[in-house]
Amino acid sequence: MPRLIIDTDPGIDDAFALALAARSPECDLVAVTTVHGNVGLDLTTRNALKVLKLVDREDVPVGRGAARPLVYPTAVEKTAVHGGDGLSGQAALLADRERGVEPEGAVALMARLIRESDEPVTLVPIGPLTNVAALLAAHPEAADGIDRLVVMGGGLTGGNVNAAAEFNVWADPEAAYRVLVEEDIPTTLVPIDLTYQCAVDADWLARLAAAGPLGAALEPMTGVYRAAYAKILGYDGTVIHDAVAVAEAIFPGTLKTKRVPLTVDTAFSPRRGGTLADLRLNAEPTPGFRLVNVAMETDVPAFTDLMLRRLS
Ligand code: RIB
Ligand code: CA
Repeated sequence: MPRLIIDTDPGIDDAFALALAARSPECDLVAVTTVHGNVGLDLTTRNALKVLKLVDREDVPVGRGAARPLVYPTAVEKTAVHGGDGLSGQAALLADRERGVEPEGAVALMARLIRESDEPVTLVPIGPLTNVAALLAAHPEAADGIDRLVVMGGGLTGGNVNAAAEFNVWADPEAAYRVLVEEDIPTTLVPIDLTYQCAVDADWLARLAAAGPLGAALEPMTGVYRAAYAKILGYDGTVIHDAVAVAEAIFPGTLKTKRVPLTVDTAFSPRRGGTLADLRLNAEPTPGFRLVNVAMETDVPAFTDLMLRRLS
C-alpha cells in the first residue's frame, strides 16, 4: 500500500486531490504539508486543515512549510484563479479542524515521518517545490526513504502562467530545478499536457454535486476556478490537475509515462520556469538534464469515474 505525504497549496484542485487520497483505502495518507502557491501560506495551511476536516481525517498530521520561494520572490501577483481565499470563497463555510498544525514545520515533519516509516514513502508535491527542495537540502538522507516523487507540474508544449511556464514550476524555478534535475530519486512528472486531457465538464460537476455531502461541498469550490477554465477550455468545465497526480500515487501505473531527459529553465528570460524535455529518440541525458518519467496519457473516463466514486 503506498504511503503518501502530500505537499500542497490548496487551492481547489488540491482540495479534490486531498479528498481523493483521504477517501482511498488503497493508500495510507501519512501526512499533509503546506506551501505557498495558489494563495499565501496562512491560507493554504488553513484550507488544508479545513479540507481534511471535511473528509473526516483528524488523524492526518499537517506541517506548515515555506511561505516564499527558495531564492527569488514570486515574479508577479498571480491572478486569483482559486479565489481570494483559495477555495472560490467557500473556505468560510467549511468547519475548522480541531487538530491544528503540528508543532514541527513541514520539513521537520516530512524528515521525521520518512525516517520513522518502516517502508519507503511516496512524496507527492502538488504545489511549488520549495518544501521538497528544502527537505532534500537539510535532510539529504531523506532521499533513501522516498521510493518515488509523483510531481504535478511542468508543461512540455508550453505553460499555463505564460507561454513557457506551468504554475508550480514558475512559482519557484530554483526549487523545481533542485528537485527535478539535481536529485536522482525516481520521479514521475505529471505535466499540464496530460492534466488538461483529464478536464471535467458541467455534467460531471453536476453529478458530483448530487453525489452526497462531500461532492455537494466540493462542487461549489470550483466556482471561480471553473469560470477561469471555461475561457481556457472553450466549454463549461475545469481541470483538477493535482488529482491526476494523486491518482497515480495511489494506483501506480494509472498514467502511461515516457522516460525522457528533462530540465528546468531558471534563467531570467521569457522561458524562465519552463520545463524542457529532450524528446529526441533514445536521447541520453546531457549535462543539466535528468531522466524523469513524464506522464503522457491515461484512461480519462476511468480517472473521472474514479474521482466521482471516491468523492461521493
Ligand atoms: O498548474 C497547475 C498547478 O498550479 C496545480 O497544482 C494548481 O493547484 C496550481 O497550484
Ligand atoms: Ca496545487
